[in-house]
Amino acid sequence: MKLNEHFSSLERSYLFSQIAREVDDYQSAHPSAEVIRLGIGDVTRPLAEAVVKAFADAVYEQGQAATFHGYGPEQGYAFLREAIAAHYATFQVQLSADDIFISDGAKSDVGNILDLFGPGNTALIPDPVYPVYRDTNQMAGNRIRYLDAGRHNGFLPLPDGRPADLIYLCSPNNPTGAVYRREQLKQWVDYARDLGAIILFDAAYEAFLQDEYLPHSIYEIEGARECAIEFCSFSKTAGFTGTRCGYTVVPRELERGGFSLHDMWFRRQSTKFNGVSYPVQRAAAAVFSPQGETQCRASIEVYRQNAAIICEALRGCGIWHVGGENAPYIWMQCPGGLSSWEFFRLLLNRAGVVGTPGSGFGKNGEGYFRLTAFGDTEKTQQAMERIADVIGRIS
Ligand code: MLT
Repeated sequence: MKLNEHFSSLERSYLFSQIAREVDDYQSAHPSAEVIRLGIGDVTRPLAEAVVKAFADAVYEQGQAATFHGYGPEQGYAFLREAIAAHYATFQVQLSADDIFISDGAKSDVGNILDLFGPGNTALIPDPVYPVYRDTNQMAGNRIRYLDAGRHNGFLPLPDGRPADLIYLCSPNNPTGAVYRREQLKQWVDYARDLGAIILFDAAYEAFLQDEYLPHSIYEIEGARECAIEFCSFSKTAGFTGTRCGYTVVPRELERGGFSLHDMWFRRQSTKFNGVSYPVQRAAAAVFSPQGETQCRASIEVYRQNAAIICEALRGCGIWHVGGENAPYIWMQCPGGLSSWEFFRLLLNRAGVVGTPGSGFGKNGEGYFRLTAFGDTEKTQQAMERIADVIGRIS
């Protein structure tokens, strides 16, 4: 028996599992402590009313012989793929419903996409980064070259001339909240086309963009259809972290070595995945209905206000930070020269507040800390008062 020896190169736990364990230990030792969680980017607002109605109606359809649905179409129902294509048209991207594959979320697809590429590829991965890109490439035994992100480049690394097969980009960025401008993404698209590389573009936070000049999709850039796959999700846009639905765009014309990546992904998904349930797909389609859009926007507005509360409190403490304007994450410098995990434990123990240590996202995250705006507003306000108090005692 051979095991996948690449697992030995991974950190012992997935970042958010380690955090959950430390928080559970703290809560068991301090049962009456009221812990406020601004760590993992999990939403707190309930599903929109229009979404719940579509979800419930579809569940009732499943209970009637005349409207019952068994296995769905392999790429997902046309009603949902067409609604997604129409959403892309609002930022002038023309997709065909056939370019879109429905899934249970962006995280799974970002990992599963590596089935399309042989072993030993070179992946360019920003540092700091959403740990899934790094961990899945380590599991696959790929070579990783890190793209240094830091204050010197606004946490938005650009092509540096090194060869690569796969290029991971996330904008608006998790964990830093930084957002690529069009001309910067154009540099990446040109670079990928020159190299014959594929860009794996994570657009999970596109709904948080406020500045109309910032790109929502890599396909807003000319030439991207020939070199990019895009992942997106209803998790953060519409509160689906517990409901599960996302999608991946693999354009028809995307080919390498005479193989259609679209056909390969279809083959992969139809072999290893049986689709997202009919009620969940109906619920997801309702996100794009006029009421659904208005109601989902209202929740995003609440998260934006939370981000503003976080940023204002940090400004008041004189703490350097970015993000929060076009993204639900705020990336802050740890006070008093503390390391990321030192600050994490200090906040947990002295303030009962959970954040995410920046070093969990890569070596360039050391000395930084991520806060999420996905909490409840009152608790976010309370958390920031407690954080300000802790910071005040350090400095
Ligand atoms: C995060 O906190 O980085 C996200 O919630 C992770 C995810 O979306 O999987």
